[in-house]
Amino acid sequence: MTARPRLTVIGTGYLGATHAICMAVMGFEVLGVDVDASKIEKLNTGEVPFFEPGLPELLAKACESGRLRFTTDFREAAAFGDVHFICVGTPQQADSEAADLRYVDAAVTSLAPHLDRRTLVVGKSTVPVGTAARLAALLRASAPAGDQVELAWNPEFLREGFAVDDTMKPDRLVFGVTSEWAEEQLRAAFQPVLAQDVPVKVTDLQTAELVKVAANSFLATKISYINAMAEVCEATGADVHDLAEALAYDERIGGKFLRPGLGFGGGCLPKDIRAFAYRAEELGVGQAVGFLREIDGINRRRRARTVDLVVELCDGDVAGKRVAALGAAFKPNSDDIRDAPALDVAATLHRMGAEVTVFDPAALDNARRVHPELGYATSALGAARDADVVVLLTEWNEFREISPSAMAAVVRRTKIVDGRHALVPAHWAAAGWDYRALGRPSVHGSVPA
Ligand code: UGA
Repeated sequence: MTARPRLTVIGTGYLGATHAICMAVMGFEVLGVDVDASKIEKLNTGEVPFFEPGLPELLAKACESGRLRFTTDFREAAAFGDVHFICVGTPQQADSEAADLRYVDAAVTSLAPHLDRRTLVVGKSTVPVGTAARLAALLRASAPAGDQVELAWNPEFLREGFAVDDTMKPDRLVFGVTSEWAEEQLRAAFQPVLAQDVPVKVTDLQTAELVKVAANSFLATKISYINAMAEVCEATGADVHDLAEALAYDERIGGKFLRPGLGFGGGCLPKDIRAFAYRAEELGVGQAVGFLREIDGINRRRRARTVDLVVELCDGDVAGKRVAALGAAFKPNSDDIRDAPALDVAATLHRMGAEVTVFDPAALDNARRVHPELGYATSALGAARDADVVVLLTEWNEFREISPSAMAAVVRRTKIVDGRHALVPAHWAAAGWDYRALGRPSVHGSVPA
């Protein structure tokens, strides 16, 4: 069984669908499993149910190879797979900061009663430390094969927008295991990845769980750190953009995740730091990561402060003003709007009485579904028509390429808030725009529009 294990991937969201497709492309026989029949139908007919560059082409290739299928049937999954990957979501609970583990628990309890031979179940979802040990006991108790069913933890570090590369050639693999056999199965299941000299770190279950939340907490901290510096810059007239660039030359600090602006959102960083702080409190070590609440606070303030800048450019009152919101996704190259800072800002301005028109290259349908109260346009210039203020909220490349003079020709007033530090202020000022960005001095238009 170790030679080339047959794989199942339970949960076909961003993580699971990408994992299933990439593993099939790398030569494994893979069965994807989900309780959502409409998702399974789409995948079986070659359609990726979300936006991810490169993935539709790979799905076509995998389906053509005959090595990839999708099902809703857990019995079939148990019969098929030697190694089962659990890739379901762990969102924030509706009424608390803790992670909602109902989908992980359901995946395990749906699969376990059908496991009647020696098998490895591998958790990839982001979970509070201690979850793996609980699930291992649950598996042993409810699988007919009992102790023959082992659990391992293999956290996933893929970034949306780069999901294919991050899966095919990750920075590292982490194998949380409790036996040599489990490690052997994982090495076999990742053989094509390991063959590319990707480093692997073998740990116990709880360390593997922690690596993931520690990594996301570090990234969130780095972003909020530079955004905290932006707050100080604002109070002093300093420029956080130059500050960040100067810091980045220090190799110990580095420039990645040091981009100031509207801050982090998405389905991972915000809920992961909250769940980690919550779990640490449960474990009696809340103080150790108490700073994560401050990281969250700095991040939330960025959204409020971006709204303030728009209000300032509207002479103190946005009621009745037209605002063009460029961007809805939580980051470029994604259609994901979960906890998207962009939509948060747009919806707040709408609540304050502004007439907000949103454009996003990929996330319009998702945004419209969740925020039907906002206006939508099919292009950036369309959104900007007759606007009193333009606010750039997601740094899509096509927004960087907008001609300041072309946009000046369609707006009512040439005022722009660059929420992502994506534009060159001098270019916009030269076309007559007043330019504002968090943590940067104001720049005034040098020629009339
Ligand atoms: C994040 C991690 O980067 C992945 O390693 C991890 O696997 C994933 O969460 C997860 O837990 O599943 P992702 O949510 O796709 O990936 O997005 P990131 O690229 O990390 O960006 C997160 C947010 O931070 C975005 O809203 C982005 O705009 C913001 N950001 C990023 C900044 O504000 N400044 C920066 O310098 C970098």
